[in-house]
Amino acid sequence: MKLINIIGMMSCITLAYSADCSNAYGQCGGANFNGSTCCPSGFTCQYVNNWYSQCVPGSSTSNPIIKTTTTKTTKIQAPTSFSTSNQTFFPTAQKKVVLNSPILVKAGQVYDGLVVNGVWTSYGRGVTGQGDCKNVEGGSQDAVFRLESGATLKNVILGADSIEHVHCIGDGCTVENVWWDDVCEDALSLLGSKNTNAKFYLIGGGAKDGSDKIVQHNSAGSVYIKGFTVSNSGKLYRSCGNCKNGYQGQRHVYIENVNANSVGVLAGINTNYGDTATFTNVNANGGNVCYTYTGNNNGKEPSKTGSQCKGQSNCTCK
Ligand SMILES: *[C@@H]1O[C@H](CO)[C@@H](O)[C@H](O)[C@H]1NC(C)=O
Ligand SMILES: *[C@@H]1O[C@H](CO)[C@@H](O)[C@H](O)[C@H]1NC(C)=O
Ligand SMILES: *[C@@H]1O[C@H](CO)[C@@H](O)[C@H](O)[C@H]1NC(C)=O
Repeated sequence: MKLINIIGMMSCITLAYSADCSNAYGQCGGANFNGSTCCPSGFTCQYVNNWYSQCVPGSSTSNPIIKTTTTKTTKIQAPTSFSTSNQTFFPTAQKKVVLNSPILVKAGQVYDGLVVNGVWTSYGRGVTGQGDCKNVEGGSQDAVFRLESGATLKNVILGADSIEHVHCIGDGCTVENVWWDDVCEDALSLLGSKNTNAKFYLIGGGAKDGSDKIVQHNSAGSVYIKGFTVSNSGKLYRSCGNCKNGYQGQRHVYIENVNANSVGVLAGINTNYGDTATFTNVNANGGNVCYTYTGNNNGKEPSKTGSQCKGQSNCTCK
């Protein structure tokens, strides 16, 4: 919640509409709201639900946003439709948010960037000069979003200015219509859970320029990737091949309606752990579909044992 307040506050800074601020206890946001998203002095804009945010007493002293800029200073307009899950183009950011700590989306909650901001917004950590990120290892403090069990992140852009991007830290999460402009180490990291029933969904959206992996699956459980676009990247998915201290059992991935361009391989799995990868209607455009590895728990680079499913749109790799 705190973070959502903050974004309300931020609107004051970026929009320069302070003369038109909403009244104390007035509405300051929501999907069909046309009015000002800024609140009077001493009040912050608090998210209530997707359709309503309210100016409530409070300040932004705990505001983790250190700097914000907009590339467009038009008044925020709520989008006319949120049914964007099937779009296949990268949205253009009309607003930029730079965070100095990750946004935590609590268990079961939804963080919808279009509802919070009204326009497509790029989120990052203001990190520059990482090059291809090949020699950069980040930790959870470097993430942009951290999602607890059952949390949903949707309709946001992850900018190039981060080392880590989205972390799911519980027993499952949903990431929907999220676009990564330039992936550093991993776009989506699934961490921590040892629950073999955990389910992680990556629905719609896309990622490009991930020299390494897009989805890194260290948790137990299953990953469902549907309607995702990926280009110019190493691997779309990798189940952890050298998780020293983490979960070491089987993992599953279901990849459906995915179009890949200039991607080394769609999935890398550890057959010695019983991992499986199931592909339906995929197009790797000449790239590889599935690599198999022997995973280990000594932290060494896992050895590759084979390649399966090449040229096929429906296939199970195991
Ligand atoms: C927002 O503006 C549109 C177009 O001017 C109008 O049709 C609509 O009723 C307004 N909505 C609200 C909640 O004021
Ligand atoms: C996206 O496409 C799927 C499959 O074609 C369809 O079932 C779904 O309704 C579409 N979603 C939207 C929001 O258009
Ligand atoms: C792949 O499977 C889907 C779903 O069962 C089916 O609609 C499609 O025709 C199959 N494609 C091929 C090339 O067999």
